[in-house]
Amino acid sequence: MKVLVTGGLGFIGSTIVDKLVAAGHEVAIADNLSTGKRENLNPAATLYEVDILSDAFRDIYQKAAPEVVYHMAAQIDIQKSIRDTAHDATVNILGTIRVLECMRDFGARKIIYASSAAVYGEPHYLPVDEEHPNTPISFYGISKYTPEHYIRVYAGMHGFSYTILRFANAYGIRQDPKGEGGVVSIFVDKLLTGQTPIIFGDGEQTRDFVYVADIAEACVRAAHKGDGKIINVSTNTQTSVNQLLAVMEEALGVDIPAEYRPARAADIVDNYMDNTRLRELLGFVPAYDINRGLSETIAYYKKQYQK
Ligand SMILES: NC(=O)c1ccc[n+]([C@@H]2O[C@H](COP(=O)([O-])OP(=O)(O)OC[C@H]3O[C@@H](n4cnc5c(N)ncnc54)[C@H](O)[C@@H]3O)[C@@H](O)[C@H]2O)c1
Repeated sequence: MKVLVTGGLGFIGSTIVDKLVAAGHEVAIADNLSTGKRENLNPAATLYEVDILSDAFRDIYQKAAPEVVYHMAAQIDIQKSIRDTAHDATVNILGTIRVLECMRDFGARKIIYASSAAVYGEPHYLPVDEEHPNTPISFYGISKYTPEHYIRVYAGMHGFSYTILRFANAYGIRQDPKGEGGVVSIFVDKLLTGQTPIIFGDGEQTRDFVYVADIAEACVRAAHKGDGKIINVSTNTQTSVNQLLAVMEEALGVDIPAEYRPARAADIVDNYMDNTRLRELLGFVPAYDINRGLSETIAYYKKQYQK
């Protein structure tokens, strides 16, 4: 099968590319390297260095002629979405529309869209299932939610299929600890370099941490399953930031007390997400619990820091 992965040099996109290549698919990547890294490139995939907002993307799309599009390219930083809201909306909303226009004009059977826990906002109940109201509390949450509507309506009008996957908090190998990366990669970075980890709030806020290989597995399965559905990709398990740090310190054999700072704007207090649909529609539950996922992640970063 011919597939196109937008954002295929990023943390999650590159893991999906690896799985698709291993399964024998012909993979093209469209990435502008804004946060993606060349070192994440799978040598069997074809890289097009291009912005999805550009006209050149249309030519590349036509050339790649994908049957399935994995749309992972996005601006993913919540704090940046507060500082530069127009840029966040441009990349996430208009960028998705550009991809949909190509599907309309040049064809494709299906789009698989990387949505987010951020589309729900502050949970009204836990675990959050897919019927939970959508009241995002960040601009990033809005810019990830709005494309869901464009995808549904475009698909209905132009006869292609879609699956919207709402990822919980992703972690694992290749996540960038610099800038506003995920809390796991930031903590590993601090602990391996002997620095004090910083926790915003009291650390009792909880998250649903899902390992990147499990996200990639859900994405690969969605090529032929879950048509027209919205599906959480999550572990249905709650872990507090304090617990997370304790597990990591134990695994690394270090004891560095965290520095606590005031909670940040648009940070959700508690969250974990129901994964019944993932099990029923994609026939799969995440294989990695937090201990297994963290031990792979830590082993990866240890090697990186030795380089
Ligand atoms: N990381 C998480 O915890 C998480 C959670 C929920 C949803 N998501 C979603 O998953 C997807 C992948 O996230 P990630 O964590 O791998 O982030 P990432 O920043 O590592 O990957 C994004 C990729 O998209 C590329 N990109 C960005 N703008 C582009 C543009 N205009 N044109 C072409 N390429 C562009 C970047 O260079 C990068 O390679 C995103 O859509 C994100 O919103 C991530």
